[in-house]
Amino acid sequence: MNDFEFFYPIKNYFGKGSAKTALKKELPKYGKNILLAYGGGSIKHNGIYEELIELIEAAGKTITEFSGIMSNPTYAKVQEGAALARKHQIDFILAVGGGSVSDCCKAVSAQAKLDTDLYEYEYTEHKVPKQGIPMGVIVTAAGTGSEQNAGAVITHEEKNWKGALWGTAASFAVLDSYYTKTLPMKQVLSGAFDTLSHCMETYLGAPREANLSDQMNESVMRSVIVNIRKLKLDPENMEARSELMWASAMAENGILKIGKQTDFQCHMIEHQLGAYTDCNHGCGLAVIHPELYRHLAPVAPKQYARLAVEVFGVDSLGKSELETALLGIDQLAAFIKEIGLPTTLKEMDITEDKILRAVADTTVLMPGCAKKLTPDEIFEILLAVKG
Ligand code: NZQ
Ligand code: ZN
Repeated sequence: MNDFEFFYPIKNYFGKGSAKTALKKELPKYGKNILLAYGGGSIKHNGIYEELIELIEAAGKTITEFSGIMSNPTYAKVQEGAALARKHQIDFILAVGGGSVSDCCKAVSAQAKLDTDLYEYEYTEHKVPKQGIPMGVIVTAAGTGSEQNAGAVITHEEKNWKGALWGTAASFAVLDSYYTKTLPMKQVLSGAFDTLSHCMETYLGAPREANLSDQMNESVMRSVIVNIRKLKLDPENMEARSELMWASAMAENGILKIGKQTDFQCHMIEHQLGAYTDCNHGCGLAVIHPELYRHLAPVAPKQYARLAVEVFGVDSLGKSELETALLGIDQLAAFIKEIGLPTTLKEMDITEDKILRAVADTTVLMPGCAKKLTPDEIFEILLAVKG
């Protein structure tokens, strides 16, 4: 295990009705002006909006609404939110939604306190924002774990770039699985697969020898797989929804990453696919993962074999490490198919080689990946899953 410093500042309120408990305890700590941020309107159809308005008003706060945050939130939307926050002298941001709303608000929080353009500040001046408007996240779609950290994944449309901006971590997160009940099953599954992806991308980083973080991670991965299956059989299974919600948080709260240099190469490819096509994040990951791993397993067969045995139940008896590793990847691919996520880019209406080439040429290469890929290798991997 690598040396590490670990600090985890986010208070989690978990369980049915936890928004009420959280807002009663937390809102009195902040000023009067609240920015209530949400997406395209799902919270207005499922009762969450009314419930929260009542709680915020009961705390004596003034509400400014910041709505219409889209999936794969854009940099322009961040600027809109920051301008709104400045104009209304916002004291606290309450983000209500999935990863997109949470990410947008983490960046809004930082940009609102900064005179410089946030992207330039981070990517040209190489600085990290030191302050932001305090915020809380109420999760209505689990999977990204965005509510557990300060990283915001934002699409800069003018630059054809989708990547991380360092923003503000929430002071608290509300994890009530009942709030996810109206989420379309396709999004439930793509979110849960995103969690599995975060776990694998952490597990397959360095060091590549077994360690405590990896062993905890194996448990989370097994749990995600079991509970996705349970939820597919019975979407009303609240225990399975809760388990997936906490697994999502565990994958991104830093605990599984302790002492690891993470991989996240699949994410970097998918993010650029998102930059060029605005595709669904979890679905993009589902398409890329198996092929990418078939490409990488020969470089780190022992590590991929461990994943195969511990998570996908492959029997390694009489097999080489690489044979075991590849059987595990077959199991991963079969699982993706079983739960109905796409296995080709064609199923996601992504068909143009020109786009795949642009994705390959702009993908960030990750130091924790088993191999430093070339743009040509990434292009080949994308062509192989084109379908
Ligand atoms: O906008 P509304 O109307 O609310 O609808 C949303 C949206 O259409 C809907 N939804 C959310 N809660 C619902 C609901 N519909 C019915 N009932 C509910 N309770 O779900 C749709 C998808 O929401 P979105 O937030 O876009 O999904 P997700 O949580 O998967 O977030 C995806 C974004 O997060 C980024 C992704 O790249 C993508 O931009 N990620 C953020 C990460 C982070 N900050 O740590 C890590 C991830 O790897 C990921 O990159
Ligand atoms: Zn992800």
